[in-house]
Amino acid sequence: MAKRADPIKNSMKCVFPAKSINESFARMAVSAFVSQLDPPVSVLAELKTAVSEAVTNCIVHAYRHEPDKGSCLIYISAAYTVGGNLKIAVKDKGAGIADIALARTPLYTTDAEGERSGMGFTVMESFVDRVRVRSAPMKGTTVILEKRLDVK
Ligand SMILES: Nc1ncnc2c1ncn2[C@@H]1O[C@H](COP(=O)(O)OP(=O)(O)O)[C@@H](O)[C@H]1O
Ligand SMILES: [Mg+2]
Repeated sequence: MAKRADPIKNSMKCVFPAKSINESFARMAVSAFVSQLDPPVSVLAELKTAVSEAVTNCIVHAYRHEPDKGSCLIYISAAYTVGGNLKIAVKDKGAGIADIALARTPLYTTDAEGERSGMGFTVMESFVDRVRVRSAPMKGTTVILEKRLDVK
């Protein structure tokens, strides 16, 4: 079998209930993992913000119709390669997104209470190299954040 050109060096997974209190947990968990690559503080801050946006979306959008958020789960997995290619996946099993391109449009929001800015995907896109979204209505959504980090 051919050898992978840029093999995975380390990976992690975590699962937690879709509660607001876990937004900071998600930030810190990803931050602790990515710190192994010793990135600049500014890059770490940007990654934490991107993860926060994705996790907040699971809580406020994916599971918006769920009465018991404690039984709704958010799944994060992350991995980086020898070459410093980082991938972070934030997944939910919630409502899903009917029109992904529309959802990614700056200022687009389905929030009726006027608390959201509609800038979550735009923020994610500005802080990582690539954002991929896979979603199916009533099945859930996975947001994959990819970023190339310098390895020392
Ligand atoms: N995980 C998700 N599950 C269901 N819908 C989502 C999810 N993430 C985003 N969306 C949809 O995409 C829209 C845009 O998301 P975003 O750019 O983060 O803006 P905001 O959260 O401020 O509305 C949301 O209003 C929502 O309709
Ligand atoms: Mg958002």
